[in-house]
Amino acid sequence: MGAELDRRVLVVGAGGHARVCIEALLDSGYEVVGCVSSDGTGAPGLPCPVLGTDHDLGEVAASAGATHAFVAIGDNAVREALSARCAAAGLPLATAVSRFAMMSPSVLLGAGVAVLAGAVVNAASAVGVGAIHNTRCSVDHDCTIGQFAHVAVGASLGGGVAVGDRALVGIGACVLPSKAVGGGAVVGGGAVVVDDVVAGSTVVGVPARAMARGPR
Ligand SMILES: CC(C)(COP(=O)(O)OP(=O)(O)OC[C@H]1O[C@@H](n2cnc3c(N)ncnc32)[C@H](O)[C@@H]1OP(=O)(O)O)[C@@H](O)C(=O)NCCC(=O)NCCS
Repeated sequence: MGAELDRRVLVVGAGGHARVCIEALLDSGYEVVGCVSSDGTGAPGLPCPVLGTDHDLGEVAASAGATHAFVAIGDNAVREALSARCAAAGLPLATAVSRFAMMSPSVLLGAGVAVLAGAVVNAASAVGVGAIHNTRCSVDHDCTIGQFAHVAVGASLGGGVAVGDRALVGIGACVLPSKAVGGGAVVGGGAVVVDDVVAGSTVVGVPARAMARGPR
């Protein structure tokens, strides 16, 4: 009972990604008190009420008795900004690990991280605050994943890969062992990274090559 009272989480975000993260939060022993979203509405089938907007998340959290927040937004920059808003409201970030994820006990996880169903995070990897390990991604040994980075659905990282802060490794992409993806870079869906990726750049294709930067 006491433990549950200390693990009451307000979810920031109310879309499809939030639905997935809520299940992982429940797997991680949190009670989900509700969500907030940018406009106070939520996706169909959300298993909890939308209690307000993210503009007044502090007040909503206080009235709902939340002890933590979890930012369930896929966009890296938006997730970072909302995480700062949670910190300003005095809400520590919860960490959501699906019971279907496979994680080495030697992994270091920052606060606010999502590790979703089928994700594998192998020995001696370190994951920064607010990073997403999306469904069925694979992160091998000795990887470092930066703050507010996103390893997308089905992406695969070989051993010793470094993913910088706010970088996106897109759906189904592969990063060969020991390569680095610079901060804020985007690896397009299906790309195979064979060389280090310059910070802030976007790469696509097999092998991955630079393209003009577009929206995520
Ligand atoms: C790479 C990416 C960022 C480019 O986005 P964009 O700038 O909006 O690009 P556009 O859709 O305008 O496409 C521009 C060109 O690049 C090509 N292209 C886009 N994405 C590509 C990819 N992943 N691989 C190869 N080519 C790609 C398009 O076919 C198009 O080619 P054309 O000019 O010959 O028609 C995006 O397509 C992508 O792969 N995002 C990853 C999304 C993701 O994984 N999110 C996480 C969800 S869990």
